[in-house]
Amino acid sequence: MLGAGPGQLGLLEAARKRELYVIAADRDPGAPGFSLADRRALISAEDEPALERLASAEGVDGVIAPGIDWSVAIAARISAKLGLPHPLEVESAQLAVSKLKQRERFAEAGLPFARYAVASRGEEAEAAATELGFPLVVKAPDRHGQRGLVLARGREELDSAVERALAASRSGLCMIEQLEPGPEATVIGFSLDGRYHALAVTDRRSASAPAFGVSLEHAWPSSLSETGLKQTIEIAGRAAAALGIEQGPSYVQFIAGERGPLLVELAARLGGGHDAELVEAALGIELNGLALAAALGEPIDSDALTPRSLASGACTSFLVAPEGELVAVHGAEEASALEGVKRVRLYREPGYVFAPLRSRSDRAGAVLTLGRDREQAVERAREASDLIRFEVASPRSPT
Ligand SMILES: Nc1ncnc2c1ncn2[C@@H]1O[C@H](COP(=O)(O)OP(=O)(O)O)[C@@H](O)[C@H]1O
Ligand SMILES: [Mg+2]
Repeated sequence: MLGAGPGQLGLLEAARKRELYVIAADRDPGAPGFSLADRRALISAEDEPALERLASAEGVDGVIAPGIDWSVAIAARISAKLGLPHPLEVESAQLAVSKLKQRERFAEAGLPFARYAVASRGEEAEAAATELGFPLVVKAPDRHGQRGLVLARGREELDSAVERALAASRSGLCMIEQLEPGPEATVIGFSLDGRYHALAVTDRRSASAPAFGVSLEHAWPSSLSETGLKQTIEIAGRAAAALGIEQGPSYVQFIAGERGPLLVELAARLGGGHDAELVEAALGIELNGLALAAALGEPIDSDALTPRSLASGACTSFLVAPEGELVAVHGAEEASALEGVKRVRLYREPGYVFAPLRSRSDRAGAVLTLGRDREQAVERAREASDLIRFEVASPRSPT
């Protein structure tokens, strides 16, 4: 398993339940998922040569990258080299891990997304900005989790945004994209033998400034209109097909624009925001287990994708801690005991130093709730989150 961070916890638990022998690779010795693995390998989930040597030496049966985009292509390439079964073709995986390459395929397929341009230097970015107009979102096309993703509200913010995106970019390119207003939605899907199944559509709520694009809440069912929902699901399926995804989990992010749904991106993996756990709690579909089966090349019966309505509302709400070194967490037990609370996850141990919230990895935990509808699930998640308090030692001021 490539990665042992918060985004991989659900899959690690599912692997345990299935009594699989799991080697988890993560460069962070404090990765919260290590305690759930049979073996820990202190190797970056992006260090392809080292991961390939490990997989080969250990004679693994499959490689899975549940929460990290770049590693999705690494898992596909290593599997192909070692002759292991794998849900994704190498080419599809490589398209999926590049926001730029996937856009090119989406364009060929006539799918809708925000207007964007590509730049490798400040002058190109300026020309693009003049053409597109502010506000703009500047992105590193080959990063994820809000790394190298910056909002430029006006000309004065463009240079530093481009600099940051280029510094994070692996390819020396950045994308400059029109900021599209509108609510966001995620389609959580699974492909089986070439057929795309949309399992759930969730509303995504992102953190407010100075953070940008960091998800704080996924709520189900989506509040999209019936037409909007239909269009969104249809585009998600076409997006998966455009990248040649025939097997395994994916999620597709959308902005519900004024003129219809716009694709933000597709990831050919489980969502890193406990998406699989929400789907399992609400719909009884064991998405983590299915992702494992796909990674091992096991046959999957399409019945496994049939929803059994267990709840009519669900919400994953992320916890945010104040900046500083974690001393203790209070209130988690009370929160867990509230009605409708399925799960409270705390990602970090005392001693961990929280940075200000700027990316997905700065989040401190998550609460999963169920309810009679979306509103009740969201309400319960907020109540539970409010009970949880992170006690931190304030960051030392520089002397
Ligand atoms: N063109 C855009 N218009 C409005 N919001 C955007 C746009 N692009 C990205 N965002 C915001 O930033 C978030 C992350 O962007 P995304 O392209 O998915 O990168 P990543 O998830 O890899 O950090 C989106 O979910 C959305 O909230
Ligand atoms: Mg994204």
